[in-house]
Amino acid sequence: MSGTCKNWSTWLKKTRFSYMDENQKEQTIKWLIAVRDSVLNLADLQIGQKIADFGCGSGLLAFGVLERFEDKVELIFSDKFQDCLDECQKILSETKIKNNAKFLKTDVSNIKLENNYLDRLMTRSVLVHIKNKKQVFSEFYRILKQNGIYAAFEPIISENTRYYELLTNNQISDYEDFKKAEKEFMENPNDPLVNFSAESLDKDLLEVNFSDVTINVQIASSKYIPTKETITNWFITPPAPDQKSMKERFLEYFDEKKVNNYITEVQNALSNNPIEINSKTAFIKAIK
Ligand SMILES: C[S@@+](CC[C@H](N)C(=O)[O-])C[C@H]1O[C@@H](n2cnc3c(N)ncnc32)[C@H](O)[C@@H]1O
Repeated sequence: MSGTCKNWSTWLKKTRFSYMDENQKEQTIKWLIAVRDSVLNLADLQIGQKIADFGCGSGLLAFGVLERFEDKVELIFSDKFQDCLDECQKILSETKIKNNAKFLKTDVSNIKLENNYLDRLMTRSVLVHIKNKKQVFSEFYRILKQNGIYAAFEPIISENTRYYELLTNNQISDYEDFKKAEKEFMENPNDPLVNFSAESLDKDLLEVNFSDVTINVQIASSKYIPTKETITNWFITPPAPDQKSMKERFLEYFDEKKVNNYITEVQNALSNNPIEINSKTAFIKAIK
């Protein structure tokens, strides 16, 4: 495992931005705020509701709720990991927001809340860490009141641009071997990061009885010129604290010398040239 990141709060504060320059970081933060506002709007929040942000991390969605409603709603910050809840509590204590927020440490696979409790439930980038999404959706259904709304944002990582699509056979030794390995681990049905599509989320939500499901898929295209350092960071930055980096994934197929040579060839092929990368995302709304 990479030593870059030990826990979720560190990953959220530092690791996820580690391969970005200041301009990319600023763009990413603007994008996160836009995503937050879209999820809050989808959830159709109203004064007096019981609302929860599950897998809240550093509280992107929950703090958005507090900014809009302060103590006029009953808000739960919830995460599987205490370090995230501690971080949110610390941020909250440093703001002037009046609130009556609660903090709930629970795994979304088995939520410590009674049936029919919440009016609104939100997640952002949490499903990518859950192997059995359908089981989590049945928990969300259980704890929502009738007509309650689940609103979420999720990256569809399995359908992002892959390295082999940016490269050609004559730039990379053993191109076909690396392409085969990348295809295999990006389509692994046991890997929570990639074992789903917008269609499978829709199917799972309907199968646990949500009556009205809308999934709005968007493709974001980003054009930029990577440096050698950016490319090194693509390979060594873990996508989550408990997940293998790209380099570690390739090391399951090839020895270190071959993987290091591949990274050098990718750097030679792509650094200082413009590239275009597509990322697919989904905004989800489901009504009980
Ligand atoms: C990519 S972060 C997203 C954090 C936050 N929602 C945001 O939008 O910035 C994923 C979050 O999911 C949490 N998480 C991962 N697995 C979980 C599980 N099984 N149950 C509850 N939370 C989980 C992590 O602790 C982390 O805070």
